[in-house]
Amino acid sequence: MEKERKVLYSGMQATGRLTIGNYIGALKNWVNLNEEYDCFFGVMDLHSLTVRQNPKEFRDNARLIYTQYVAAGLDPKKNCIYFQSHVPTHAELGWILDCFTYMGELNRMTQFKDKSAKHADNINAGLFTYPALMAADILLYQADLVPIGADQKQHLEICRDVAMRFNSIYGDVFTIPEGFFGKVGARIMSLADPTKKMSKSDENVNATIYLVDDRDTIIRKFKKAVTDSDACVRYDVENKPGVSNLIDIYSVITGKSKEDTEKEFEGKGYGDFKLAVGEAVADALDPLHKKVDELLSDRTYIDECIKENAEKAYYVSSKTLRKVHKKLGLTERIR
Ligand code: TYM
Repeated sequence: MEKERKVLYSGMQATGRLTIGNYIGALKNWVNLNEEYDCFFGVMDLHSLTVRQNPKEFRDNARLIYTQYVAAGLDPKKNCIYFQSHVPTHAELGWILDCFTYMGELNRMTQFKDKSAKHADNINAGLFTYPALMAADILLYQADLVPIGADQKQHLEICRDVAMRFNSIYGDVFTIPEGFFGKVGARIMSLADPTKKMSKSDENVNATIYLVDDRDTIIRKFKKAVTDSDACVRYDVENKPGVSNLIDIYSVITGKSKEDTEKEFEGKGYGDFKLAVGEAVADALDPLHKKVDELLSDRTYIDECIKENAEKAYYVSSKTLRKVHKKLGLTERIR
């Protein structure tokens, strides 16, 4: 399909509060890339339904996430930022792609295995077919590039496989998307257990830095971060996962290389290092906090963007869906 500019697509679940893992692994890269692409960013509220949500908290969180995308530097007049549930083509193509995705492929997904273990009382069909809906999100916009963290790589692989399968039967319908992973920070680890990914839903509050955390909380959590007894700021993921994770965070946030970070803290203790990482993160999030407050104080601007962008997303995605219907032989609608 001929396009003037390449298309970038990504999104986050609307569950819980965004973390610096989401920020470093995804949002920061979106901001860096957004000028070069035609961008679509979803707040993936339908995906969030695979886990039970408290309706009021869910609605508030989803809006906060939308606002944080904007506050991080994505201009909603230039980037199509919308709620997945406002654009019905997602669920429609999701169903069609369910019919092109094999049980064996879905069975292999680590996110499905992890979430099933965590929510053993609610292993629902949506949790299982989650990747087909995610494939629909991406393929509807003919996306070329999908900037995500390392944990979403498997889902993107399924998306590519399903798209190639569909194209091999029906011709050139979908663009095959490529993943984009930051050189550093594609997998930010928990501060409490650096062998585990930092996650929104960690029960240990010290494990995760949330984008809404204030300066004191951020610094306190970094001070408590689990490291080792070696007392040397050196990058070694296997033997020093905690320190290596902090080096990753520090170098992404400050733009300094790992080597320069090691040099900067040569001969210094972990106390100094942890404080410096905490302060750097707090400094980086400070403008974002201010912008979020500003945006939340005037609902009309964000409301207008939500409305306009849902219309745009529907318009663009409907073109792909119509093409899919035609290729499949679904009866044309009479208008
Ligand atoms: P979600 O909501 O779990 O995470 C949103 C983005 O943040 C990245 N991420 C991380 N990166 C580095 N370190 C971490 N600790 C970390 N935790 C999360 C994720 O990799 C992701 O890029 N299935 C997706 C949402 C989705 C989507 C899409 C993404 C639905 N449809 C279409 C891209 C395109 C998810 O659960 O992300």
